[in-house]
Amino acid sequence: MTYLGKLGVLCVLVPLGSGFSSAFGWQLAQTPAEKYIAAMDNPHRVLKVDEVIAKLELKPGEIVADIGSGSGAFSIPMAKAIAPNGILYAVDIDQAMLDHVAARAKEAGVSNLRTVLGEYDDPKLPVKNVDVAFFHRVLHMIEHRQIYLNATAKYLKPDGRVVVIDKNREQSPNSWMWLNQPDVDTWMAAIGFYPAQQFPVFDDKYFVAYQRPYGNSVLLKKHPTKQN
Ligand SMILES: C[S@@+](CC[C@H](N)C(=O)[O-])C[C@H]1O[C@@H](n2cnc3c(N)ncnc32)[C@H](O)[C@@H]1O
Repeated sequence: MTYLGKLGVLCVLVPLGSGFSSAFGWQLAQTPAEKYIAAMDNPHRVLKVDEVIAKLELKPGEIVADIGSGSGAFSIPMAKAIAPNGILYAVDIDQAMLDHVAARAKEAGVSNLRTVLGEYDDPKLPVKNVDVAFFHRVLHMIEHRQIYLNATAKYLKPDGRVVVIDKNREQSPNSWMWLNQPDVDTWMAAIGFYPAQQFPVFDDKYFVAYQRPYGNSVLLKKHPTKQN
């Protein structure tokens, strides 16, 4: 089994009676943090972090929420990209993951990262001026996607972007657990967002930035077509 396959199985094969499932309803159950962190920190994961940051054109001063931040693979470099006065909110439902990210940030001398313990249906961000809400391999784990995306949109600036990197079902052997992009497009359209940018960075994942059709958006003016 490939590494990514193993990570997928880690996400879903833990008995649902354990971990997070009991008090808050059902979403994909997951394995305890220390095992999960080891899997996410595996150097063989294909993340293309620098390329993702470059495509998103993150700039100093921006406010970014890395939702489902896990071990912080994106949180730390994104915090550096928006430093010194931008803030990176690392959001997760698992406090142990957040403690790991905070320790990693401290070790790396990153001081513009804040951790946020989210709820299952709401990232619970402390601000409402987010430029980018970023979901890498997370949205498929959330049970109530429409509710979660709706809650997330409330924290965004009018021209803020919701960025989703996930897999179409036919692109993976564990096909049932992934999300097809047309479904994500539909949920985003329901809250007034359209796929403003699509980046062909990954062979096996889609990478889409959704935005409201907001007239003054610099990105819309710069990238009037869907493909970038
Ligand atoms: C597959 S990992 C991806 C981590 C990270 N984005 C990466 O790609 O390295 C999914 C992460 O999402 C978190 N998660 C799952 N459901 C969540 C929810 N409803 N809200 C926020 N985080 C969630 C998990 O705790 C886990 O850390």
